[in-house]
Formats: sequence, C-alpha cells, structure tokens
Amino acid sequence: MKFFLDTANIEDVKELLPTGWVDGITTNPSLIAASGRRFLDVIAEMCDLVDGPVSAEVAATDYKTMLAEGRHLAKIAENVAVKVPLTLDGLKACYALTQEGTMVNVTLCFSAAQALLAAKAGATFISPFVGRLDDIGHDGMTLIQEICQIYAQYPFDTEVLAASIRHPLHVTQAAQSGADIATIPPKVIYQLLQHPLTDKGVEIFTKDWKKTGQSIL
Ligand code: E4P
Repeated sequence: MKFFLDTANIEDVKELLPTGWVDGITTNPSLIAASGRRFLDVIAEMCDLVDGPVSAEVAATDYKTMLAEGRHLAKIAENVAVKVPLTLDGLKACYALTQEGTMVNVTLCFSAAQALLAAKAGATFISPFVGRLDDIGHDGMTLIQEICQIYAQYPFDTEVLAASIRHPLHVTQAAQSGADIATIPPKVIYQLLQHPLTDKGVEIFTKDWKKTGQSIL
C-alpha cells in the first residue's frame, strides 16, 4: 500500500521524507489556504522534493477552464497529478487530460457509481472521502470496499486513493479493504507510529543498558 501525505506544508514533507513512507502528496484548496503560501510555488517545491505524484487541484468548475488550468499545472513537473472534482465537467477534463498523458486524481467521490464513472473517464486515481461520509452518519469504509470490489472485476487502471482520513483506524481499515493508497494528514501518520508499550519498552531497555556500563561505539 502506498502512503501519500495530505498536506500543503513543505516542512511536514521534509520531516517525513527520510522515513521512506512518502510515496506522494495530495493538496487541496483548503490546505493551500491554510498554508498561506502561493499555490504554484508549493506545488513546484513538493514536486522537487518527492518522486511520486503531487496532486494539484484546479480552481475552476467549468470544463474549458479546468482543462486550461490542468494543462498549466501539468507543466510544473512530470509528477503533477491534476485534481478535478467528480462532476460532469470534471470528468470531461479528466478524460481529456489523461488522453494527453497527464495523471488525474478525481476528488470528492462519495459513491461507487461515481467511482465507476471516474474509472471509465480514465482517472489515474479516485479519491473516495471516508471521513466526510462518516461525518454525515454513513460508513466511509464501506465505500472503499465497494469501489475495490468493482474495480477488481474490470481491467481499470484507476488506483483507489482513500482520502479524508481522520485517524489510524481509517488507514488500517483502508489497507484491509484493498485501497491502493491512503492519503494521510501528518498528524495521523504520527498517531500510526505511537504505542505506549513501545515507549515503555524503550525506557526500560535504555535504563537497563546503562546498568551494563558498556558502549557499542
Ligand atoms: C485529499 O485529497 C483530500 O482533499 C483530503 O483528504 C480531504 O480531507 P478532509 O475531508 O479532512 O478535508
């Protein structure tokens, strides 16, 4: 399973790159707004830092402008994945851009039917939003399972990118469900790492090692 970092914060990426966990990045307009930085600069820096796909979302909602914006974003670097919303115009832009060889991440997916349309439009990635479905009393993980089951039956190349991940259980359940990728906020990555027994174990071993009076180096 691949992990993408769901962030527009360059420092988060730099901090986590040496772990080998960062297979790509996703951003969205809300994350860019929170960063307070210029969108095109953030995407260019992210693309320099990571080898994998960096999702950059179009701002327009009409096909023609989305296509123009997508083409502009794709010129930033080869690893840009243009992010388009799961609308009729968004899927038309997806089809046109993927035909031109640009990676496309179709975002704001909330149903298996929508995911099927995105795959047929040639999407490189489909982003079902798990947390936002949970927020309205649905089971977001069921959607991941449904999409994985449908995609497995047909020769689609579209990868399932579990998005709107809010806690570690979302990540492990997305992995169990067969999602190709989870895009994870840095805070949740650190939560995945934590276990109180690990901390306690390190403390005990460190204390006992000191008692030996030895050094390895
Ligand atoms: C990623 O591509 C999405 O934009 C992101 O995961 C959305 O997460 P949120 O629902 O927590 O805003």
